[in-house]
Amino acid sequence: MNFSLPAVQFDAKLLRKYDQSVPRYTSYPPATELKPDFELLDFKAAIAVGNYKKTPLSLYCHIPFCETACYFCGCNTVITQRKEVAELYLDYMARNIRAYAELIDCARLVHQMHWGGGTPNYLSLKQVEKLWITLNNHFSFAPQAEISIEVNPRYLKREYVFFLKDLGFNRISFGIQDFNPQVQEAVNRIQPEAMLFNVMEWMREAGFESVNVDLIYGLPFQTLNTFRDTIHKTIALSPDRIAVFNFAYVPWLKPIQKRLPKEAMPQASVKLDILQMSIEELSANGYQFIGMDHFAKPNDELASAQRQGQLHRNFQGYTTKPESDLIGFGISSISMLYDVYVQNHKRLKDFYKAIDANVLPVERGVTLSQEDLIRRTVIMELMCQFQLSKYEFEEKYNLTFDRDFDDYFAAEICELKNLENDGLVRLSHNHIEVTPVGRLLIRNIASVFDTYLRQKKISIFSKAI
Ligand SMILES: C[S@@+](CC[C@H](N)C(=O)[O-])C[C@H]1O[C@@H](n2cnc3c(N)ncnc32)[C@H](O)[C@@H]1O
Repeated sequence: MNFSLPAVQFDAKLLRKYDQSVPRYTSYPPATELKPDFELLDFKAAIAVGNYKKTPLSLYCHIPFCETACYFCGCNTVITQRKEVAELYLDYMARNIRAYAELIDCARLVHQMHWGGGTPNYLSLKQVEKLWITLNNHFSFAPQAEISIEVNPRYLKREYVFFLKDLGFNRISFGIQDFNPQVQEAVNRIQPEAMLFNVMEWMREAGFESVNVDLIYGLPFQTLNTFRDTIHKTIALSPDRIAVFNFAYVPWLKPIQKRLPKEAMPQASVKLDILQMSIEELSANGYQFIGMDHFAKPNDELASAQRQGQLHRNFQGYTTKPESDLIGFGISSISMLYDVYVQNHKRLKDFYKAIDANVLPVERGVTLSQEDLIRRTVIMELMCQFQLSKYEFEEKYNLTFDRDFDDYFAAEICELKNLENDGLVRLSHNHIEVTPVGRLLIRNIASVFDTYLRQKKISIFSKAI
């Protein structure tokens, strides 16, 4: 089947109208629904179900350390130059891996693994190898497993890049954010253009299958023209995937962001111009819009998976791997099993304490109801394929006998009709189809099916655009 989609279209008026706070739906229910009064037994039971079904595994390792602080950063990081802290962390991480691995059938294959941060290349080569060996001692990796890592180009050497590839990493991602020196200085992340081109060359030379770069718009001193220059340079760099993130400015949660000169941040209208220009330039230069903030070359597997209707979404974002159980190691990592999500302790102190006490280092979690599972299917189908067949859905959930899709979701269909009037979706007897204009507002469309959001009086999520 070919699900080729028409190019995404930009409509500033609609983007302004729908500029509301909505979750990013890397999961449904969203991570905000994970609660401390969660039963660890539910987590263990969900692992046992995966063992029985031999569900493939996806692993995530969180390395929180960074040598210096980027003032825009919204991630869970620990800033320190005392490299010895990583040694202690890796010891606890190994114990975390062992504790989870004891519950998991070792015949289950790992199809995907990602190391994120923070800065995974904060680790020395010896430490990377040590963690790699621990993981390999406890899990069996499929021969074609996708193994990816995030790196900070400022602390990278050629030999490090080759070492990662030789060890078995086959995908790599690095943060650019912006090429402009004034922007880089304002966010405390100076990385000259020549350095970024060098790093990319090493990655190509080493033979990584896919290279991703991150950009952020909304940072101080960015204008339409400066960011156009960043987009042009990024295109010249020719990565396989490009993420163009909207800057999440949340100084009340991330006090480091208070160091940014607020008065130099671009106005909302400039940000919309930047987004429009980025979409147009990337599309004109052969990048396919995947969804949310992501673009990929047409031959990249994310793009082809989307064309074949095989794109999925989990806490790591868009992925080609369906139906896997995601297991997260290290602080703040999320594990996402079929009907249970848990998150590890976010603070080092709490994480170490739980492991010392021989309990699983889980801080909070949620067990999904049948209703959650049904709604998750709708939301993920819309987020990944931008369309949904009501018949297929009815068959999957055996809805036809008592209530069909339109009956089951009567209130939601009513709400979707308003979105249809604005041109965001097309509704037919059997289909919900997101229009090219609606694709940039996919979070808003998906949120129609989110019962938790409806119940919330005040909104806590970042803006849709
Ligand atoms: C874990 S971070 C760091 C990746 C890598 N360690 C590096 O330093 O290049 C992953 C990405 O999240 C994005 N990011 C971080 N904070 C953000 C924020 N407040 N708003 C939008 N994107 C953000 C950045 O683009 C960043 O490259």
